Amino acid sequence: MMSSSLPIGIFDSGIGGLSVLHHIRDLLPSEDLIYVSDRDNLPYGSKESRFILERSKYIVEFLIEQKVKAIVIACNTATAVAVSHLRNSYPLPIIGMEPGVKPATANSQNGVIGVLATEGTLVSGKFQSLVQQHANGTDIFYCPCHGWVEAIEHNGATHGKTVELVEQSLKPVLEKGVDTLVLGCTHYPFVKDTIEKVAGSSVTIIDTGRAVARQLQRRLSDEEILSSNPDTGQQRYWCSGSPEKTQKLIAKIQGQPCIVNRLPLPD
Ligand code: DGL
Repeated sequence: MMSSSLPIGIFDSGIGGLSVLHHIRDLLPSEDLIYVSDRDNLPYGSKESRFILERSKYIVEFLIEQKVKAIVIACNTATAVAVSHLRNSYPLPIIGMEPGVKPATANSQNGVIGVLATEGTLVSGKFQSLVQQHANGTDIFYCPCHGWVEAIEHNGATHGKTVELVEQSLKPVLEKGVDTLVLGCTHYPFVKDTIEKVAGSSVTIIDTGRAVARQLQRRLSDEEILSSNPDTGQQRYWCSGSPEKTQKLIAKIQGQPCIVNRLPLPD
C-alpha cells in the first residue's frame, strides 16, 4: 500500500507539463509534486515512437526511485506512444492525457473542429481510435503546429517570432470555419492568448489540463492516497541537460525562484 504522504511525479518533454501542474496545484494544494522536464530531448513530437517510449520508461523509473505514489504523463505525445506499456509495466496509478476531441465535438455548433497537436500525437494509433470513437459526423481539421514547442521553449511564448509562427500555422485551419479548437499538446496553453486573438471570440478553445487534474484526484481518492497534509505541498524540479535555462523558464512561469536538478544519465 502506497503512503498518502508520498509525492506525485509529473513529466513532459519540456515546460509544457507545467500547464497541467498548474491545475494540479490548484485542485490538490497539499500534494508534494516532482516535475521532470526532458528538455535535452525535446521536441518529442517529431521523434520516433521507440525513442519516446525509452525516455518515458527512463523517467518513470527515475520517479519511482524518488518514491512517488502516482505519475501524471503531462504530455499528449508521450501518452499516445507509451501509456499502455507504462501501465502494464509499473504498479502505480499512471494518469495520461489525450486531446479533447470528445468535449470539442460536444461543444461544436457547426460540426467543424480543429485539433492542434504534435505530429507524433496525430499519427498515433491511440489518437486515430479516439477520433473514430468520438468524431461521428464532425469534420475535423488537423494542425501539426511545426516548430511551436521549440519556439515556446527557446524564444518564449510571447516573443514576436513565436506569435508570428502561431498566427501563420493557424490560418489554414481557421479558414475551414472551425468553431472549436483543441489544444492537444501541453505546451499550447502558453500561447492561448495568441490563439484566442487570431481565432476570435466565436471560437471555443478546449484544454484538458483541468480534466487531467480531476482524474488524478479521483484516482488518488479511489486508492485512498490523497494527501492529508494540512500545509501547502512542496515542488521539486528535475531536467535533462543543463538546468540553468530550465530553472529560469520555470521561475518565470511560476513567478518565483526555484531550483532545478539535473536528471542523472541512463547507465
Ligand atoms: N508537450 C508535449 C505534448 O503534450 C510534447 C511536445 C513535444 O515535445 O513535441 O505533446
